[in-house]
Amino acid sequence: MSARRIGVVGGGTMGAGIAAECLRAGLGVRVVGSGPASAERARGRVMALLDRAHTKGRIDDAQRADAERRAEFGADPDALADRDFVIEAVPEERETKLRLFTALAKTVEDPAVVLASTTSSLSITDLGNATSRPGDVIGLHFFNPVPTMPLVEVIRSTHTTDQTARRAESLVTEALGKKIVRAEDRSGFVVNALLIPYLMAAVRMCESGVATAEDIDRGMTLGCGHPLGPLAVLDLIGLDVIADVARSMESGTGDARHAVPPLLDRLIEEGRLGRKTGHGFHRYDTARAS
Ligand SMILES: NC(=O)c1ccc[n+]([C@@H]2O[C@H](COP(=O)([O-])OP(=O)(O)OC[C@H]3O[C@@H](n4cnc5c(N)ncnc54)[C@H](O)[C@@H]3O)[C@@H](O)[C@H]2O)c1
Repeated sequence: MSARRIGVVGGGTMGAGIAAECLRAGLGVRVVGSGPASAERARGRVMALLDRAHTKGRIDDAQRADAERRAEFGADPDALADRDFVIEAVPEERETKLRLFTALAKTVEDPAVVLASTTSSLSITDLGNATSRPGDVIGLHFFNPVPTMPLVEVIRSTHTTDQTARRAESLVTEALGKKIVRAEDRSGFVVNALLIPYLMAAVRMCESGVATAEDIDRGMTLGCGHPLGPLAVLDLIGLDVIADVARSMESGTGDARHAVPPLLDRLIEEGRLGRKTGHGFHRYDTARAS
């Protein structure tokens, strides 16, 4: 049975993107925020993403109106009891996610319901063990921005059942039309395990004065054919977001290649978070509110 009623916990960058994609795919979506104000902000984000999909011709007038009818927003986690697939997208804080998974497993009593996490760096086994039903827990690591990025990493813990994996992969590939890679439950999975050491090395290179930020990025775009240089990637994703993931990976692996260089912390303290603030390693003309 494929999932029709999706619950999304946390309607920030990722939760809103996932909710909008599920709505575009014709599914029913209930987004639960940390309070009424957070739920209203989530509504604003999801509606803006649906508007963009409409403007770009990915959905027509009738589909836009229908998607809005299928969207619900609130602050009561108990309202997720009737969902047949729940995706957690709250901030990358281990204790917050553990508490949430313990509570979710009690709220959503039906054992056929998948409980998925969007974590970038935390252990899916750990999250599963916080519940009474670790077989139903799986990692679905979407990429930002969700509507345009085609990849989702699927992470099974040692407890995740075949049925859970099948249902999760079916939602991602058949309903949402994304591509998957399957990864072991190791910190950073595939993409961040390769990306974070590379980005931190680029920051250290800039910090030590080997080359300017512009030349480091030109080295990788013109010399390696990458569409963006590493410091431009940091600006795109957000320096604060990457620093949180790097710290979480460093504490999970003890690997010094994930350590956050002082330059990155200094830029974050100065409010230079990348494109979203108009300035990171590079300057941008238009800043958007974060
Ligand atoms: N931002 C990215 O580029 C990116 C990419 C891949 C994965 N992720 C992962 O996705 C997850 C969410 O990240 P994000 O960037 O969307 O964060 P975010 O800060 O943009 O959004 C988190 C949302 O969760 C809400 N929230 C906090 N506690 C809550 C609770 N107890 N119940 C319900 N809602 C709650 C907040 O109000 C906020 O709206 C993280 O695990 C992150 O590592 C992020």
